[in-house]
Formats: sequence, C-alpha cells, structure tokens
Amino acid sequence: MTVPKVRGRKGKEPLVMVTAYDATFARMLDEGGADLLLVGDSLGMVVQGNEDTLSVTVDDIVYHCRAVARGTHYAHIVGDMPFLSYNVTPEEAVRNAGRILAEGRAHSVKLEGGRPVVPVIERLVAAGIPVMAHVGLTPQSVHAMGGFRIQGRDEQSAQRILDDAKAVAEAGAYALVLEGIPAELASRITAAIDIPTIGIGAGVGCDGQVLVCYDMLGLTPDLRPKFVRRFDELFERGKTAMEQYATAVRSGEFPGPEHTFGPAKGPRAVASGS
Ligand code: KIV
Repeated sequence: MTVPKVRGRKGKEPLVMVTAYDATFARMLDEGGADLLLVGDSLGMVVQGNEDTLSVTVDDIVYHCRAVARGTHYAHIVGDMPFLSYNVTPEEAVRNAGRILAEGRAHSVKLEGGRPVVPVIERLVAAGIPVMAHVGLTPQSVHAMGGFRIQGRDEQSAQRILDDAKAVAEAGAYALVLEGIPAELASRITAAIDIPTIGIGAGVGCDGQVLVCYDMLGLTPDLRPKFVRRFDELFERGKTAMEQYATAVRSGEFPGPEHTFGPAKGPRAVASGS
C-alpha cells in the first residue's frame, strides 16, 4: 500500500487504519485487512502504561516500527513522530523522521499540528519523506488543551482547525488525521481539501477511520471512549484463558501425554516440536 494508492482512495473506498506495535499484532491486523498500520505514540499509554504520550522517544518508535515491519506484508506503515522530535528545528525533524524510515522501515511519518508545523512538513516532503498530518485533538498538546477534550466545538476554533487542515494539505501532507472534532466539521474539512482525511472520533464523513488496536480489540478494560466500538473483548477472553491455564497446571492436568516427549527413538531423533 503506497502513498499514491492512499491518496487515490480519496472520496472512493474508505481507508482502514489501526495502530500496531509488534510483529504478531501487525501480522494479525495486516492479514485482517488493514490498509495502514500506525505505530502510534499511543504506545506510551497502552504498551508502556503512562497516562499520556509525552514520554515516548524516537528510539521507542524506531524499535516498534521495526517489529511491525517484520509482521507486515500489505499495509502501509506510518511511524508517529514523538513529542518534541519535530518541533525544535526542521533539521532535527528530518534526522528523526529519516531514522523512522531508514532504521524503523516505516513508509511515512505522522506529526501533530497545523500552521506552526508547515515549515517542517515542507522540509520533510522535500527530503522525500511522506508526511501524514494530524489536527483537532492532538494528544501531545494535552496540557495546553487542559485534557483530552473534543476540539472545534465553537465557530472560532472550528475555523482554526479548518485553516490548519488546508495549510498542512497545501504544505504537501499526503493524508490528514482528524481527531476528536464534531462530525459536521470533519465533513467540511474532508470536502475542502484534496488529500484523504482519516478520522478518530470525527464521524463517518471522513475518507477513512483509525482506531487504537487495543481499544478496537477490547484490551483496555478501564477505558470506554464514546468514539470506540469494541470489535472483541480480548482482555476478558485472555483472562479466562489464563484462568483455565492456571487451573490446568495446578490440578496436574497440563501438560498431558500429547505435550510430553518420550526417550529418543534412535540416533537421528530430535525434539522437533511435533
Ligand atoms: O498515537 C496514536 O495512536 C494516534 C492515533 C490515535 C491517531 O495518533
């Protein structure tokens, strides 16, 4: 799945994006039909257990991108640029984004922000690094926003987000994440720019949707945001499986004869796993 193919889906077949952080999940989600896998800095919350995304480093993203790349055959891999990895100087941004592509084997990067990041997007695009932009609720600005709050609810802030969306599209971003904004505003933005919009908590009027895979699979028992549909309850199912394993070990019922090796049958006998 290439950048031109992603762009070509604008207004046609909806794009399906989901986060992934390791090779096994990447393989499962890729084989399940994801068009794009986002190695999101949400890993700071769902993998590392922090309360926000601010502590994630470029090294973290590179490490998880490499793992995701090993499990992926079809999907386009997007590496998230962490907090302050692109906001200090455009030179640093190019170096960090370059690492995410060269070492992490991602195909593009994503960064948060509107008009203030236009010079960075232009530098990255000029260096041959495709950029997905992200406006609306931008989690790296959690403290400035006063929490993870829906954005663009009044006309002034809606206009600011629309202007930001136009600016990042003009600067050369190939796609745009719209997070946590009213559905009507997301539809307006989608109609106003010629790159695909990918929504999360932004309604059905976008060119695609993205969810955090832990939310989508039901692996986050304490979180039930309104914009998430849980397509499974893997936390509960995994817990039940663990309880069954513990019972089987404690009762001596596992391992059974079918999981147990006998003595070697001859000089060539090896433990082959079967
Ligand atoms: O880090 C992330 O997972 C994201 C998505 C929520 C869009 O940025």
